[in-house]
Amino acid sequence: MKDQDIIDLSWDEFDELRDPRPAANGFDAVVERAISRRGFLGGALAFGSGALAMGAGLMSSTAAARAEGMGFNFKPVDIATDHDIHVPEGYQWKTLVRWGDALFSEAQGAYSPETGVPVEMSDKVFGENTDGMETFVDGDKTVLAINSEYVNPKINLPATSEGMPQNADEVMMLKNMQGVTVVEVADNGDGYEVVVDSPYNRRITHETQMTMDGPAAGSDLVKTKADPAGLNPKGTMNNCGSGKTLWGTYLTCEENFNGYFGATGDYEVTEGLKRYGIGGEGRYAYEKFDPRYDLTQEPNEPNRHGWVTEINPLDPTSTPVKHTALGRFKHENAEMVQANDGRVVVYMGDDERGEFMYKYVSNGTYIEGGSTEGLLSDGTLYVAKFNDDLTGEWLALTPETTGMPIEDILVFARIAGSKVGATTMDRPEWIAANPLKVEAYCALTNNKNRGVKPNAGGDETPATGPNPRETNNYGQIVRWKPAGEDHGATEFTWDLYVMAGNPTVYDNAYAGSENVNAGNMFNSPDGMAFSSDGYLWIQTDGDDSNEGEFEGQGNNQMLVGNTETGEIARFLTAPNGAEVTGLTWSPDKKVAFVGIQHPGGSWPDGNGKPRSSVIAVWREDGALIG
Ligand code: FEO
Ligand code: CA
Ligand code: CA
Repeated sequence: MKDQDIIDLSWDEFDELRDPRPAANGFDAVVERAISRRGFLGGALAFGSGALAMGAGLMSSTAAARAEGMGFNFKPVDIATDHDIHVPEGYQWKTLVRWGDALFSEAQGAYSPETGVPVEMSDKVFGENTDGMETFVDGDKTVLAINSEYVNPKINLPATSEGMPQNADEVMMLKNMQGVTVVEVADNGDGYEVVVDSPYNRRITHETQMTMDGPAAGSDLVKTKADPAGLNPKGTMNNCGSGKTLWGTYLTCEENFNGYFGATGDYEVTEGLKRYGIGGEGRYAYEKFDPRYDLTQEPNEPNRHGWVTEINPLDPTSTPVKHTALGRFKHENAEMVQANDGRVVVYMGDDERGEFMYKYVSNGTYIEGGSTEGLLSDGTLYVAKFNDDLTGEWLALTPETTGMPIEDILVFARIAGSKVGATTMDRPEWIAANPLKVEAYCALTNNKNRGVKPNAGGDETPATGPNPRETNNYGQIVRWKPAGEDHGATEFTWDLYVMAGNPTVYDNAYAGSENVNAGNMFNSPDGMAFSSDGYLWIQTDGDDSNEGEFEGQGNNQMLVGNTETGEIARFLTAPNGAEVTGLTWSPDKKVAFVGIQHPGGSWPDGNGKPRSSVIAVWREDGALIG
């Protein structure tokens, strides 16, 4: 494929291109199963266990849930199809920081709508394609850590035909547009503003020196020519979702790292490379100008990415740490909670069609203010198995259960998960834990391959359990309650909080669950976070064509869910072309910071290029919203 064609692919399509797989489940068998279900359920196509799986509380609240907007203190907004932001009456929004905005005064004016940002200023400005973020407080200072997930070369390299980098400087500029931005913001009474030149301001990029801990650190799998000890990897990339530790540091999650590596010559095609979709030509041609990304020269460099990386945003001199104990995969986010005995628990999703959900449990315990030594380097990684009877279990990934050495288990967690029979999921995106109850939620964004194709490891993807619909273009949110109300437990029960769908197009399972109606419908749930009052905020990254099976769903959006009644109401709509991703709040919970990634048109400036931005949203009456 030509370079420009690869650039235009979604990450999912890029993966399919790298590893084309036959519909090995057998299309005939899929159709036969669907037809027999259709007969049995009287028209509910391929519903699997979905009806059974809807929470009893949700099913009994049907009437209330169908009444739009009940139980929320705002009037839900309608769908939108324009290039603007819409929030409920009584709320205000403004742009807090845009791609290319200066973090330091030397970079003021560096961005231009014609040429973007020059390479020499590219690590002194806010990065592109904002994603996960968290708020940190140091005395009276407010500091945000914000991920920049990927780059759009066609926007960043307007002078280059085809939008592909043509030299090392252009590669460096693109690399600097990713990573993490740490930035101080100040309450100016009008939705906050960036504090230029704050001592907290920092960019962490592909070039930042890091360390690595846990059982895979220092193993042969992560050694390179530049780092023969395998302990000092450089850089973080494709930073998607986020997390916050109990001790107040930032967790940035490396997602589609596979696409940055390519080969300029021969290289050994291993099972590990194939399972992670790495090989051939890289997505951005980095390997042509930087040997670190060249599989021919540094075959182990990809093994140093795909980790959860910890950053202390309040110490600009601190060295980020990659935690191998949490496993290597396409990390979406990292939701940290605590087991009843004080152990640290981190829930994590691997966002690829048919991949798994994981949790890490530390061996040591955390006491507020106490030592954090070993808490993210010494523990057990588990993978989720869901049963159709609404039970499930976390299967430990150990040398005993997998037959693999521990460093292989962690570097190739997907292969280990396949060995123990983990459940193939519909692209696990963000996981959010309810602060008021012992339960957690995962957005399973969509999976057009469900029931059609195996995952990249050959594991079948039957339409069962929490992934009940074949060719699932809408997505769903699964919820689990750990046994004994203890996040440390290895058993749980589960149900579906919502199945997205379109009740104006379908009258079967693709209409969605009972808490979806014509007034609140959406597709492809992705970002999620709980506010302190126990409401679940849901952000979407889906099809915003407003056509066909998505008609009536409009632009991507942010909704609020009541997890007791199942009610869901639309709070915000994004500009056409954008996804909504990343949500955090000001320390007083009066301002929400919301990420608007890859907008279309020329939002927010109204001329020139579209600019990924973080916006601030607040209530005009100054009341709490988070
Ligand atoms: Fe970066 Fe799975 O979203
Ligand atoms: Ca996402
Ligand atoms: Ca997504």
